[in-house]
Amino acid sequence: MAHTITAQELTTLSTKAIGAKATAYCPYSKFRVGACILTTSGEFITGANVENASYPVGTCAERVTIGAAIVAGHRDFKALAVATDIKPAASPCGMCRQFIREFTSPSFPVYMYDGEGNHKVMTMEELLPDSFGPDHLK
Ligand code: THU
Repeated sequence: MAHTITAQELTTLSTKAIGAKATAYCPYSKFRVGACILTTSGEFITGANVENASYPVGTCAERVTIGAAIVAGHRDFKALAVATDIKPAASPCGMCRQFIREFTSPSFPVYMYDGEGNHKVMTMEELLPDSFGPDHLK
C-alpha cells in the first residue's frame, strides 16, 4: 500500500516533530530527539526521548511517540517524522526500526529532520529490509 501525505500534512508533521524536541528529557546525552506520527484518522501525536540515570533504561523518541499513539487507540498510520539538532539528519536506531515496523507497511515513509529543518525521507522497507513482523507469527 502506497502512502502519500499532503504538503500541508507534512508541514504540520515536521513542525510538531521539531517542536517536540523541546519536550525531551535528555540530561545525560543532551541529544534532543522529537517525533510526531500522523494517524490515518488525521491526528498528530508527538513524543521525545526520555532518558534515565540507568542509561540503558532510557527510551527513544520514536518508541515514546508510537507507544503514546497505540495506547490512545490508534493502529493505522500515514507517516512518522523524527527531528534532531544535528546535520545531516539522524535516522532511527535499530531497535526503533523494528518497533516502527510492527505498526507500518513497507512503503511507510519516515521523515528525518536535521537541526536546520532540512529533511530526508526513507521507507520502512529501506530502513529495515527483509524484516520480521506480526505476519510471521500467524
Ligand atoms: N535517540 C532517539 O530518541 N532516537 C533515535 O533514533 C536515536 C537515539 C535518543 C536516545 C538517547 O536519549 C539519545 O538519543 C542519545 O542516544
